[in-house]
Parts: sequence; C-alpha cells; structure tokens
Amino acid sequence: MKDVSIIIVGFGNIGQGLAKTLLAKKSYLKKHAGTGLRVVAVCEKKGRVVDEKGVDLKKLLEGRLRWGRHKTLDVIRDVAADVVVELTPGDIQTGQPGLSHINAALDSKKHVVTSNKSPIALEYKKLTEKAGAKGLKLLFEASVAGAIPVINTLSRELKANTCSNIYGILNGTTNFILSKMSEEGLDYETALKEAKTLGFAESDPSYDVEGVDSALKLVILANSLLGESISYADVSVEGILDVTPECIELAIKHGYTVKLVADVREKKVSPRLVPIGHPLDVSDNLNAILAQTDLSGEITLVGEGAGPVQTSSAIMTDLIEISNNL
Ligand code: HSE
Repeated sequence: MKDVSIIIVGFGNIGQGLAKTLLAKKSYLKKHAGTGLRVVAVCEKKGRVVDEKGVDLKKLLEGRLRWGRHKTLDVIRDVAADVVVELTPGDIQTGQPGLSHINAALDSKKHVVTSNKSPIALEYKKLTEKAGAKGLKLLFEASVAGAIPVINTLSRELKANTCSNIYGILNGTTNFILSKMSEEGLDYETALKEAKTLGFAESDPSYDVEGVDSALKLVILANSLLGESISYADVSVEGILDVTPECIELAIKHGYTVKLVADVREKKVSPRLVPIGHPLDVSDNLNAILAQTDLSGEITLVGEGAGPVQTSSAIMTDLIEISNNL
C-alpha cells in the first residue's frame, strides 16, 4: 500500500479538525480503506512546517512545533506530495489566496482536495478543465454542506438521473441561529456567538448571515451538478438579518418555521416560510438538501452542514478517492 503524501494549506478550524481526524483515524483508515495518509507540510499565515517523513500532527496541534518562514506557494510547488488540501478562507471577489494555491498545485502535478468555496464558485470550469487536461483530480465535496456527501451522491451514486433542481438549507450557522431563536428564544447575538465558538461560522460571519456562503454553495451545485455556468453575481441574495424574533413567533403561530433557503433553479437565496414537519424543517447546524431527479424522484439529504470534524469527513472521502486511484 502506497502512503498518500499531503500538503495541508490552511490550519484554522477546518485544518485543525482534519489534523485531529487524521490522528484519530490513522489505523482505521489503513485497515478499512487501505489508505495511509502522511502529511508532509502544513502552511498557515504565521508560517510553514515541512517534514517529508511526516509532520507530527499531535505536536503541531499542541503548539510544540516551530513554524518556519518558507513561502506557501514555494511549499506547494517544491515539496514532493501527491495531494494539496486547500482549506483557507476565500475572498469571494478574487478567490484568493486559494485560487493561486490550487493553480500552483495543479501546475506542479498535484491533485487537489478543497473546502474552499470561492475559487470553485469563481473558476469551476477553468480549474476542472485544467485538472482534467493534466490527468489530476480536483475534488471539493467539503465546499458544500459540511458532512453531507451531496456532490458525490448526485454525481456518482445518482449518475443515471437527470436532476432538474436542488434546493434547501446550505448554511449551518444561519440554521443554528434561526433554530436557537425559534426553539430556545435565544437572541441573535448570543446564537451567533455560540455558532462561532462551535466552529460553524466563517472567519467573516457576515458571509453566513448575509447569505453569501449559501449563494457560493448554490453556484457550486449549479455548475458542477446541473450543468449551469453561473456566477455569484447571477444569484439574488438575502440573508437573515431582517428575520426578527417577532417574524419567527408569527410564523410558528401559523404552523411554519423560517429557514434560509437556497434554490438553484431560481438562483435565489432568501428566508422562506417552511411548514413545520417539512423535510427542510431541521434544527441546529443541520443542512437539508432536496434534489429533484427524473428516475429517483425527490431525494432528501440531511446532515451536519458545518463544523471542523464534520467537514473533515468530506475531506477524508475525497482523499480516500484519490488514494484508491493512485
Ligand atoms: N460557515 C459555513 C456554515 C461552514 O455555517 O455552513 C460550512 O461551509
């Protein structure tokens, strides 16, 4: 069995969650997936740690390794590795710095696994064509809906189906906030603070609450699963900032709840009234996605849409997929 060597770029919530999963699942993966994963470099804003024999992730998580001064792009290009795992937060206007990281990885013949929405939403066609031309994989299951395998399920397991629409809750932070406000009477600020502490929120939480994060995910689903070619500017976006406790109370009185829904065909993210008991009536950090297909009818996927460990599940699935095909 060949060890897959990995460069992790981005060691915030998601990167640290992945490191913890890699440590916890090391022997399980060898036994059950036939996969050995070795991290040869970790890059963060504050520095880089490189060890071609394998970075000691436990020491790194405990703050017992020194961060060196190499440049991230040099590490991506020069350190021998099979896969670059790109986990930085992205700027939605430019996709940077993730876009440069992904391009550098593909240019130096490395596969890419990413949770970074902006580069995929901005440059899906260019990046996938580039990866394809080089015989490399560019996998991004972790960019949409945390632990829910929405991209792999629809693109692989339901491949024979034509999908006419995908809609649902694609943001864990706002669902957490709305649930806490409606079920526990928590105020907006307290609920958002809790979502940040639990590692659900983006590094800039305005991306969550203003609907930007949901819209980027909508663009990724549209382009990668429905054959569209849309960008963020094509999406009408409204977040949850105008949803008051009074709105929620009134909705509940009439048998509804309020959810932030992304609708791919309508190219729209907005708060919607959802009947209580409907498949989209899910709580906490859960996401719920409904896909309308011709052969399988309506498929509903529900699961944890945010969180470092939850997202590491999607990253691991993509890493195992690459490892099985090396
Ligand atoms: N901030 C995002 C969310 C993380 O709350 O859903 C997952 O993309």
